[in-house]
Amino acid sequence: MNIPHHVAIIMDGNGRWAQKRGLPRTAGHKAGGETLKKILPYLKKRGVKVVTLYAFSSENWARPKEEVDTLIKLFRDYLNGDISELKKQKTRISFIGNRHKFPADIVQKMNELELDTENNNEFHVVLALSYGARDDITEAVKQIVGQAVIGMIKGDEITQNLISETLSTHHIPNPDLIIRTSGEQRLSNFLLWEAAYSEFYFPKVHWPDFNETEVDKALEVYTYRNRRFGKI
Ligand code: IPE
Ligand code: IPE
Ligand code: MG
Repeated sequence: MNIPHHVAIIMDGNGRWAQKRGLPRTAGHKAGGETLKKILPYLKKRGVKVVTLYAFSSENWARPKEEVDTLIKLFRDYLNGDISELKKQKTRISFIGNRHKFPADIVQKMNELELDTENNNEFHVVLALSYGARDDITEAVKQIVGQAVIGMIKGDEITQNLISETLSTHHIPNPDLIIRTSGEQRLSNFLLWEAAYSEFYFPKVHWPDFNETEVDKALEVYTYRNRRFGKI
């Protein structure tokens, strides 16, 4: 079986999961957090090396304040609590996105986690928080133009490689497989540049119901697609 090295997940459907049960959307986000705790060790067990999780998009700030506040609280709890399980298991943790939009204590925690785990090399979890690919590409363009203006780089030195190295994802390989739960078949501003050759998988299941069997299905679909091209 050909296991994808890097799996990126758009964890969608928390709201619909809650709605179906007559619960507030925030209950869906809480349940989604529990899913995350179970899924990461299983992906590691199956041999995946890098997992990028889309937890909060740059557009999600426009949601009702109450929902945003609950999400921030859940991130804070996760970063101060359950994430330490990952630290114990030689997992590297890093973040992409505009972290400075979060309260200072969360930013500090993110920086700390990155520093503390940067030499862990068995498994790498990347959390996309306040992330938007268009913002990320715009930032990279600004940086490159800034260097070009002062003569540090010439026009013909602006290559695909330079752009990849300037994006916030410079420290991870491109995703081999992108999973979006809950049935929507769009990227919603996730890893636009990096997804150029990714395989896509769109299970119907809402994120809080995503489980080990669903991971197995996704990995099987990936293997099958690769086998068709004789890469196995
Ligand atoms: C994904 O679930 C979680 C976040 C965007 C934070 P949603 O909240 O988008 O759930 P749906 O899509 O409304 O069901
Ligand atoms: C994308 O989901 C972001 C995350 C899952 C974190 P959304 O639910 O925010 O995306 P749209 O609004 O359906 O495109
Ligand atoms: Mg959604």
